[in-house]
Amino acid sequence: MSPKTLAASVVAGLSALALAACSAGTGPATGTGNTAGSTQAAAAAKTLRLSLNQTEQHPSFIALKHFGERLATATNGRLGIQVYPNETLGAQAEALQLVGDGSVDLAIVSGSQLEKLNQDFSVFNLPLVFDSVESQMKVVNNLDVVGDLYKSLESSNQITVVGGFTQGTRSVYTSKGPVNTPADLKGQKIRVQDSPLAIAMVDAMGASATPMAFGEVYTALQSGVIDGAENNEVSYVTQKHLEVAKYFSRTNHLVGLDYLIINSGLFNGLSAEDRAAFDKEWAATFAEHTQLWAAETDKAVQTAEAAGAKFNEVDTAAFRAALEPLTAQYLKTDTQKALYEAAQSAAN
Ligand code: GCU
Repeated sequence: MSPKTLAASVVAGLSALALAACSAGTGPATGTGNTAGSTQAAAAAKTLRLSLNQTEQHPSFIALKHFGERLATATNGRLGIQVYPNETLGAQAEALQLVGDGSVDLAIVSGSQLEKLNQDFSVFNLPLVFDSVESQMKVVNNLDVVGDLYKSLESSNQITVVGGFTQGTRSVYTSKGPVNTPADLKGQKIRVQDSPLAIAMVDAMGASATPMAFGEVYTALQSGVIDGAENNEVSYVTQKHLEVAKYFSRTNHLVGLDYLIINSGLFNGLSAEDRAAFDKEWAATFAEHTQLWAAETDKAVQTAEAAGAKFNEVDTAAFRAALEPLTAQYLKTDTQKALYEAAQSAAN
């Protein structure tokens, strides 16, 4: 579907979706319904629509739902948020367009999506750029460091980046057997997010990178169109990929990053009072998300192991050596180098 057709159908279908979204998701792990979310949305005078590609069990859904509830309270019901999970409003590439044209207000999109609009975002998608979730969060929600970057899409795309949610550490998982070295990935089709850097990264790790939207990965693994994918433990479980790719090999190649984006006209048009409430509640939201992330990652590993998934360590030095050359290739401008330095110094 073209973005325009999609936008039109989204606008036409949104009120029906407000009732249906939470019980009729398209992802493989549909949740149990979200009547509390709908009630909270109905109570707010203006309900912001937020597109998410995760299930209702995912930490991002939970933290964003709480964000909406706190925002409604803080603004005396002037502003609320309805989260549409499971790609109900489209995959992330569509969500990006829809937030730009204002048919959807907010979305969570992966760093790979923003890289297509401004290369500077690729710095935070470089393998090994962050050494931990803690140092990543210090940098990506510090507007002294990222303020200009986050406003950089306003005039070109009408999109403002509000801040970041961690994706945790990403590793490779396959249906064929454990991976120990880059040589083990030779000839294997590994799904990646659709961006030049994501493709280069997995190719450098020895595999044959296959870009694809998130929601298509389960079926592609099941049918053998791909041999594996790379993601964090939480998505491995909530998307049920563990059922069709049992070997999770801890390559730990990237501490991944999601962004909350908002339509710039809407954001810059908020009253000073509502904007202050939004900023304050967002700060509480990413803090809650980071805490949930650690607990849910441990839980996901337990769930996966109980279901028969096998986790293994890899030859970390061999993967590092394969990935290191990408940094120099992707750091070209002074702005990019400064963002990289900020990420590195947060680790110390
Ligand atoms: C993670 C991330 C998503 C992203 C997905 C992917 O789950 O949180 O935003 O879309 O990876 O690999 O596509």
